[in-house]
Amino acid sequence: RTVRIIGAPMDYGANRRGVDMGPSAIRYAGVAAELETTGLEVTDAGDLQMPRAEERDPEANQLNRGNAKFLREIEDVSRRLAREVGETIQEGVFPLVLGGDHSIAIGSMNGSARDADLGVVWFDAHADLNTPETSPSGNVHGMPLGAALGRGIFGEMDWAHAPRVREESVAYVGLRSIDDRERELIQQSDITSFTMSDIDSRGITTVVEEALDVATSGTDGIHVSLDLDWLDPKTAPGVGTPVRGGVTYREAHSALEAVSSRHAETGVLRSMDVVEVNPILDEANETATLAAELSASAFGKRIL
Ligand code: ARG
Ligand code: MN
Ligand code: MN
Ligand code: MN
Repeated sequence: RTVRIIGAPMDYGANRRGVDMGPSAIRYAGVAAELETTGLEVTDAGDLQMPRAEERDPEANQLNRGNAKFLREIEDVSRRLAREVGETIQEGVFPLVLGGDHSIAIGSMNGSARDADLGVVWFDAHADLNTPETSPSGNVHGMPLGAALGRGIFGEMDWAHAPRVREESVAYVGLRSIDDRERELIQQSDITSFTMSDIDSRGITTVVEEALDVATSGTDGIHVSLDLDWLDPKTAPGVGTPVRGGVTYREAHSALEAVSSRHAETGVLRSMDVVEVNPILDEANETATLAAELSASAFGKRIL
C-alpha cells in the first residue's frame, strides 16, 4: 500500500493565523518515517499553492445570504484539492491530507466521494455543520460538513456539495462544543452523534466501532477527518479553538487503531485528513508530533 501526503496549508477558514504552517510542522515531526514503520510506502506530493490571506480581502465576493469569509479562495483550493484526492485514489494510492484549517475537508470529501458513496467519521470537539446562514463567526472551518452535505446555500455550490455523502453515513465522535443553532441542526438531521459523554459512559472502543458501523453501512468506503482539537488541550495545545475535556492520548490512539483494524478486515478507508495543527500556539511541536503518531496508528502502527 502506498500513502501520498498532500499538504493543504490553508488558513482562510480559521480566524487565527498559524494553521497554514501545519503541514510543515507535521512533516518536521516525522510523519513519513512514522508511516514507513508500518511497512507502507510513502510519497509526498508537496503543498497546494495558495496566496497568503493578507493579500486577499476576506469579504470579497459577498454572498447574497449569510457570512463566509474567504469563500472564493476556499472554493479555489477545494476544487484543486478534490481533483488531487480523486486522482490519488484512482491510482490506487491512499491520500493523507495535512491541514490547514478544517475547511480543507470540503475538498478532501468531494475528491473522495467523486467515485464512491462515502461514509465519514468526524473526530472533533466541534460539529462543523454550520452554513453561511447559521455561522456565528463566518469562519468556514466551522462549516465543512454543512458544505459537503449541501446544507443551506452550499446546496447551490457544486464544489462544496458532495451528493454522495449522506447524513445517515456520517458519525461524530467526541463532540463537546456546539453552537445553539448547530444543536438544532444536528437534532433534526440523520447524522449520528457520539459526544464526550458517550465516550465517558460507554468507552472509546465501543463508540468508535459503532461510528465505523454507521459510516461503512451502505457506502463504498469512508473518509476519516481528524481535528486535533478533538484531544484534550493539555495533550494537544497547538490548536486555534481549544475546548477542555477532550479525549486522552490513549483514547485517541485506541480510536485510530480501531480505524486501521477495520481497514485491515474490510479495506474501507479511502482518505483521511489531519487538521487544525497551529505551530504558533503549540509547545515544542508536540501537537504536530501527535498528528504524525495518530496518522501512523490509523495506518496500522502497533506497539507489538
Ligand atoms: N462552531 C464554531 C464556528 O462555527 C467553531 C468551529 C470550530 N471549528 C474548527 N474546525 N475548529 O465558528
Ligand atoms: Mn474542532
Ligand atoms: Mn446532499
Ligand atoms: Mn473541526
